[in-house]
Amino acid sequence: MPTNQQAPWSAIILAAGEGTRMKSSRPKVLHTIAGRPLISWVVQTALEAGAARCLVVVGHGRAEVEREVVEAFGARVEVVLQPEQRGTGDAVRCALESDPTLSGRVVVLYGDCPLIPSGFIDVLLDASRAAKASLGLATANLAVPEGYGRILRDAEGAVVRIVEDRDCSDEERKINEVNPGLYDIDAAFLRNAIGQLTPDNAQGQLYLTDVVELAARRGSVATVAGDMADLIGVNDQRDLAICAARARRRIAESLAEKGVAITDLDSLYVDADCEVEGGASLGAQVHLRGRCVVREGASIDVGCVLTDVVVEANALVLPYSVATDSSIGEGASVGPFSHLRPQSELGPRSKVGNFSETKKTTLGEGSKVNHLAYVGDGVIGKGANIGAGTIFCNYDGEQKHTTVIGDDVFIGSDTQLVAPVTVGRGAYIASGTTVTRDVPEDSLAVGRAKQQNKKGYAARLRARLRRKKEP
Ligand code: UD1
Ligand code: CA
Repeated sequence: MPTNQQAPWSAIILAAGEGTRMKSSRPKVLHTIAGRPLISWVVQTALEAGAARCLVVVGHGRAEVEREVVEAFGARVEVVLQPEQRGTGDAVRCALESDPTLSGRVVVLYGDCPLIPSGFIDVLLDASRAAKASLGLATANLAVPEGYGRILRDAEGAVVRIVEDRDCSDEERKINEVNPGLYDIDAAFLRNAIGQLTPDNAQGQLYLTDVVELAARRGSVATVAGDMADLIGVNDQRDLAICAARARRRIAESLAEKGVAITDLDSLYVDADCEVEGGASLGAQVHLRGRCVVREGASIDVGCVLTDVVVEANALVLPYSVATDSSIGEGASVGPFSHLRPQSELGPRSKVGNFSETKKTTLGEGSKVNHLAYVGDGVIGKGANIGAGTIFCNYDGEQKHTTVIGDDVFIGSDTQLVAPVTVGRGAYIASGTTVTRDVPEDSLAVGRAKQQNKKGYAARLRARLRRKKEP
């Protein structure tokens, strides 16, 4: 949310570049950190800072980039095409030409700078307004400034221009003050300045950065120093990993602040679109991906990987469990070493124990699948017990079939249920049974060879076998 009352301003976000340095076929701005594409981080920042309009310039991989921003932000973004990637200045020109009425202040952001705090945009807008500057510029100092444009100042310390890394002289290359790429510019000035850009530089492109020199000539540049850790741009996979680590740490700290118990801030991997309530606890090396929800009092222990999973209050997910697109009911318990595959819906106080796998199955309140079982395509009532080693044989090689288990059913260990099959409420299946026909309510099903005991046979057999072994 904006922290003060700015006059309405527009954001232009540049996202048309190819990102060859990523060495990837995916458009750069669609690479993700903490589960969210770079472009969406930037759009989110602009909207949070209070942008009245948000124009996203697309070009390379335009269909995919457009789909992403429209899905995530709907009508809050306007997508503009830059037909040819002729530089950042040309991208801004495309945005301005898409709407000749666009006026007021324009904040230009690069779609590859995902970590800018929204409050920093406010600070920049304030600074340029206070200085009545045509152009406000973020700056930062970097011990190793390679890759960034350098900020040239005159003897009085006023900004003169920006020189791109590739265009630097040896002297200029030593400058540590860099251009993080965040500008607040008067729209009328910007329109005029963009028209004056020329491509006489190492890349033969129209550089947005050259607008700074035009503003400087009017004595009209304000600067605000920021922390490069927040302003870092992603050009290659290394930058992406650095940003991801920082985003992850920020998320972990904000969760700790709201009362989530965290074992290790450095090894928690919670995606940006997950929700964890205060009073929950998250162990070391826990990954919450996509859109997980973890409610108060729930505990996710070490090494669990959850993707799009809802964990209700006071549920326990014990070490090294993996769950996807599933829900875990209030007070339920999962793991250690359980695997919940998509559409596993575990009821309150139910239990899935070690080395059990579930898929597309509802497990009623208080029901248990404690050890080494596979339950797939199942509908299991309340208070049922699924014994160790039970298999729901749901697949006949062509189709999947459903196994229905009534309330309070007891399934003995090592049972196979050949679906489609229904076991009525309160029925009891003897261990080792292969269930191929429906079992009526309160019945016992037993289907196994009768046991015979042959007295003394083992001793005789052993003796015979030993004699055979002797030379
Ligand atoms: C740019 C700045 C540099 C700054 C750095 C900060 C320019 C000329 N240089 O360099 O001073 O230090 O960012 O991170 O602006 N894009 C388009 N259309 C284009 C070209 C680029 O939309 O024709 C987009 C890209 O998708 C990207 C952003 O603009 O999101 C920046 O482009 P990039 O090529 O990464 O610029 P840098 O070399 O990093
Ligand atoms: Ca960049």
